[in-house]
Amino acid sequence: MRVVAGSASVGLARELAKSAGAEFVEVAYEKHAGGSPDGERYVRILGPLEGEPVTVVATTYPDPKIVELLLLMDAVRDLKPTRVTLVIPYLGYGRQDRRFEPGEALSAQAIARHLGEGADAVLTMGLHNPEILKFFGVPAGEVSGMPAMGRYLKGRDVDFVLAPDDGAVRHAKEVAAAAGKPWDALEKTRIDSYTVKFEPKRLNVKGRRVAIVDDVISTGGTVALAAKELKAQGAKHVLVAALHGLFVGNAWDKLAVCDEVATSDTVPSRATKFSVAPEFAAAIPR
Ligand code: R5P
Repeated sequence: MRVVAGSASVGLARELAKSAGAEFVEVAYEKHAGGSPDGERYVRILGPLEGEPVTVVATTYPDPKIVELLLLMDAVRDLKPTRVTLVIPYLGYGRQDRRFEPGEALSAQAIARHLGEGADAVLTMGLHNPEILKFFGVPAGEVSGMPAMGRYLKGRDVDFVLAPDDGAVRHAKEVAAAAGKPWDALEKTRIDSYTVKFEPKRLNVKGRRVAIVDDVISTGGTVALAAKELKAQGAKHVLVAALHGLFVGNAWDKLAVCDEVATSDTVPSRATKFSVAPEFAAAIPR
């Protein structure tokens, strides 16, 4: 198997190739040093793919990476591989998974349909709604990255894993199982019309080291609020872990309340501390 990467997924793709015992093929992302003056994307695959099964690994954030991925799929297909598996570590536009108002684009479908065109199969991770998988038009699956987060937390000095809301409970359970730690979830209680209190349902945080886990950090609001509450209740150390770290706008300012922020390599950033490559490598159809 050969592995090629989009420019935001080179690290993850190299790790995936290593885990799968596959060959990593380099790609050039610029025709001339400095890139195109008008910002247009460019790709050129720098090795043969003919007669080989190929895995393309490319995240779709930020938006120019979507254009780059369309070019990459065109270049890959032209080199005549036997089969193309597309790994999309982070798939954007998942929240617009239906037409909420008349006249709206069904963004998740529009993006998935185009990306799936050149692929025989698609794998992705941490979807807002797994129903989106059917939009690819080819067999598509969601791979869980929570075991990777669990492996990271296993090696950290953390007393328990905490879901910031009910939606994250399934993630907290999976991470806690892999990390061998207890888990809990924050519960929202309205004190009066002006005050809302967030408290762990079962566990006491006073003097404890807590890991808040979620699927995505976007603006940072959700986990920063949870971290602030835990600190106010006496938590000694608050680590925040997520699969996808987008860190939109002033997210890093909000996250200053956290002692550590750790995300996977689905969207590389300064918070990237663990890799989901083994999870994807194990899921690629052979
Ligand atoms: C919510 O459904 C998700 O699991 C995340 O909690 C949310 O998307 C995070 O967004 P933000 O970082 O903007 O609060």
